[in-house]
Amino acid sequence: MRCESILDAVGGSPLVRLRTVPAPGSAEVWAKVEGRNPTGSVKVRAALSMVRRAEAEGRLAPGGTLVESSSGNMAVALAMVAAACGYTLVAVIDPTTTPVNRAMLRAYGARTETVTRTDPHGGYQSVRLARARALAGQLPGAVLTHQYGNPANPAAHEDSTGPEIVRALGAAPDCVVAGVSSGGQVSGIGRALRRAGAGTVVCGADVRGSVLFGGSWAPHLVRGVGLSWVPENLDTSVLDEAYVLGDELSFAAARLLARHEGILAGGSSGLVLAVALRKAAELGPGRTVVAVLPDRGEKYLDQFYDDAWCAERGLDLRGWDLHRLRTAAGALRPAAYPARQAATGLAA
Ligand SMILES: Cc1ncc(COP(=O)(O)O)c(C=O)c1O
Repeated sequence: MRCESILDAVGGSPLVRLRTVPAPGSAEVWAKVEGRNPTGSVKVRAALSMVRRAEAEGRLAPGGTLVESSSGNMAVALAMVAAACGYTLVAVIDPTTTPVNRAMLRAYGARTETVTRTDPHGGYQSVRLARARALAGQLPGAVLTHQYGNPANPAAHEDSTGPEIVRALGAAPDCVVAGVSSGGQVSGIGRALRRAGAGTVVCGADVRGSVLFGGSWAPHLVRGVGLSWVPENLDTSVLDEAYVLGDELSFAAARLLARHEGILAGGSSGLVLAVALRKAAELGPGRTVVAVLPDRGEKYLDQFYDDAWCAERGLDLRGWDLHRLRTAAGALRPAAYPARQAATGLAA
């Protein structure tokens, strides 16, 4: 193995039982706290996996260049892996990339290029990816890591995240919920559970305004989840159900998770938690639900954890309490999308 040291800390995040947030009479809810990874997010698992695969295939020479399209966690994760392994990352980012993420990219020595043009729907993702492809073609010896289509992304979760959950619980959970963008987490964890022969209900959670499970692209505030196209890495054959949630419920859930469980996480973690509460209420006592929480909350302290930031965006989260959260989560319904029928044989 070429990489060592800080990279040995990737993976092995804690699985924590939530004591207060789930409603009485619910299944157990366990949180896989991925914010404990280096760089503070789950994406470092996929970043390291993609770099190792490129090395193993002889596509990445010592001192080589990586190119990726990402506005946030994946860019930061790849920048760290690149720094630890002696590579240079060129990250194609966009105006929504936060000052903290830009500063982290700088600190790790990554180069950035910011796209400013949007696609016809008003998003940046497809424009970013096109620019990353072009750059990878121009820069000598550059490797496009391509989180959306690189099989090493879901493989990271099939080989580590999924098995870690089963090991920590001593058995496969009855349900697992993961946020979706590239599809790496949900597809990889789902495959690991299917391979183990588990009957686990695999749920994807996405933000309203993304097209992954139907609907059209629209602006949203929750970071990390969502995409304006359906990526190759989303393996819908291992997905049983998908849920699409709005910003307010996602942010409210994350804030209540911090206040009642002491876990400070990002907005997509709130989104995942709300779906986990919904499934836990449905499954009832004696069952287990795992919520994979993708990143830590410090980066969002001046965003949705700040009432003034919320008010500027028309959100008032001050009235949310556990009762309201459980009620809103309980009212969630699975999205109707063709893959659900293909995966389960059920009408959506
Ligand atoms: C905070 C956050 N949540 C969820 C996701 C979705 O994960 P995946 O790309 O594995 O589908 C990401 C991916 O960037 C993320 O950064």
